[in-house]
Amino acid sequence: MIVNFLFSHYTYRRMTILILGAQGNLGTQLAKLLAAEYNVVAWDRDDLDVLDFKLLAAKIKELSPELVINAAAYNNVDKCEDKTEYEMALKLNRDLPAKLADLCLALGAVLIHYSSDYVFNGTPEKMEFLEDDTPNPINKYGESKFLGEREVLRRFEEGLSGYLIRTSKLFGPRGTSPQAKPSFFDIMLDLAQNKKELIVVNEELSCFTYTPDLAEASKRLWELEVPFGTYHLVNEGACTWHDGVQELFRLKKMKVVMRAVRSENLARAARRPKFSVLKNTKVRKLRPWKLALKEYLEN
Ligand SMILES: NC(=O)c1ccc[n+]([C@@H]2O[C@H](COP(=O)([O-])OP(=O)(O)OC[C@H]3O[C@@H](n4cnc5c(N)ncnc54)[C@H](OP(=O)(O)O)[C@@H]3O)[C@@H](O)[C@H]2O)c1
Repeated sequence: MIVNFLFSHYTYRRMTILILGAQGNLGTQLAKLLAAEYNVVAWDRDDLDVLDFKLLAAKIKELSPELVINAAAYNNVDKCEDKTEYEMALKLNRDLPAKLADLCLALGAVLIHYSSDYVFNGTPEKMEFLEDDTPNPINKYGESKFLGEREVLRRFEEGLSGYLIRTSKLFGPRGTSPQAKPSFFDIMLDLAQNKKELIVVNEELSCFTYTPDLAEASKRLWELEVPFGTYHLVNEGACTWHDGVQELFRLKKMKVVMRAVRSENLARAARRPKFSVLKNTKVRKLRPWKLALKEYLEN
C-alpha cells in the first residue's frame, strides 16, 4: 500500500520549473526544451515585472517550484554606459539574482543564473578564463553581471543550491518576445543583402554559443545533479566576430566583401574585452561552434 502510494506519487508528480525571461532568446529555448518533460511555468514581461520584488516573492512562494531559471537580464552593452540605464542594469543584473537567490534558499529550490564572459578582460598572455578565475570587468554591463555573480556566490556559501553559468556570444532562433533581438549571424545576413562591404571587428576573441545547446547543457547540469557551483557553457572553439562571419558566408556559399577592423575602429560607447575565452574544465564540452552554426542555418 505504502509502496503503491509512493510509486504513484513518484510517477505522476512532475517537477515544477519556473523560467524568468521565458520569451527572451535563451528563455524561449529553455521553455521549449523543458516543457516536454516538466511542468514549466514560463514568465516574461506580460506575466509580471520581475523588478516588482514583492509580487515576485508572493508568486514564487505560491508556486513553490523545484527549480528557478533566471534568463531575464539587462543586455544592452553600449546603453549600459549611460548612468540611468546602468541603474536599470543593476536592478536586473544584480538585485534580481540576489532576490531570487534569497527566495530559492528559503524554499529549498535550485537556482540557475546566467552570467557573461564580459566579467573578464584578458590579454595576449591570458586569453582564457577558468571557472574560478577572478573577474575584472572593463565596461558597465560586465560590472553589473559581476555584481550579480557576487550576490549568487554569497548565497552559495549560505547553502543555496544552484548553478552560476557563464556564457558568451549567444546565437540561435529569435525569442518569442516582440523585443527579442535577432542574433549576430541574422544581422550579418541581413546587412549582406544591402551593403557593398561589411565592416567586421577582427578582435574580441571569445566563444559563440548556440542557445539550444546551452539550454540542453543547462538541463543536463541539473538533471545529472552535478555539484553546485560555477560553470562555463559555450560551444567549443574561440574566434573573433570576423572569423564567425567568414564561416557564416562560407556555409551559405555567399560571396561578400568584408573589411576587418580593430575594436577601436567601431564607434561604440562601451569597451569590449579583447580576450574573454571561457574554458569549460568541469563538465562535458558542447560541440564546436561551426557545427552548431551549420545546424542553425540548416533549420
Ligand atoms: N546575448 C548574449 O550574447 C549573452 C552573452 C553572455 C551572457 N548572456 C546572458 O544570458 C542570459 C540570457 O540572455 P538573452 O540574450 O537570452 O536575453 P534576452 O533575449 O535579452 O532576454 C531577456 C528577457 O528578460 C525579459 N525582461 C527584461 N526585463 C524584464 C522585466 N522587468 N520583467 C520581466 N521580464 C523582463 C525580457 O523581456 P523583453 O523582451 O520584453 O524586454 C526578455 O524576454 C542573460 O543572463 C544574459 O546576460 C547573454
